Amino acid sequence: MASKEIEEKLFSAEEIGKRVKELGKEIAEAYSGVKKITLLVVLKGAFMFSADLVRAVHSAGGPEAEVEFVKASSYGNETSSSGNVNVELKPDLKGKHVLIVEDIVDSGRTLKKMKEIVAEEAESVKIVALLDKKERREVEIDADFVGFEIPNKFVVGYGIDYAQKFRDLPYIAVVKE
Ligand code: IMP
Ligand code: MG
Repeated sequence: MASKEIEEKLFSAEEIGKRVKELGKEIAEAYSGVKKITLLVVLKGAFMFSADLVRAVHSAGGPEAEVEFVKASSYGNETSSSGNVNVELKPDLKGKHVLIVEDIVDSGRTLKKMKEIVAEEAESVKIVALLDKKERREVEIDADFVGFEIPNKFVVGYGIDYAQKFRDLPYIAVVKE
């Protein structure tokens, strides 16, 4: 059973919900004057976060929002990314105000690559990450909006997996490795 491998709960569903609402307000404010933005959701980890976030931006009176998806994978071991980031699915982002929606910034390699690709076409690029492991950063990249800073532990839940497991948890927890 999945729960046996959970070590510690980090953020409850309520805490996440509250923070995502706040992020919606921050984002709505940052884009005031902008008519439309495009959320570019990085699959699979950010799927749940993006579903809540897009509604939070709407409720906060933010800009109209389109939603697009990309799939990023990096070849490396299971718990850290190698830097060889592969990006699949390339929506047309020409002239758009793109908000990249990511689950976790770790080494920063995935987001750095993603931002470079998006910046080639988009009118503007910003990043929102639900979680930020700041101390793990290996390349220079920062999210414009961050849900929570977390310590260097492997986390799951609320869309985030370990070997495809635990995405369904409504909370975020640390797993035993
Ligand atoms: P980065 O390129 O090293 O910043 O890796 C970021 C990606 O690694 C995230 O989008 C996640 O997919 C994955 N990742 C990093 N830390 C964790 C974790 O604690 N749990 C699950 N996936 C993680
Ligand atoms: Mg990811």
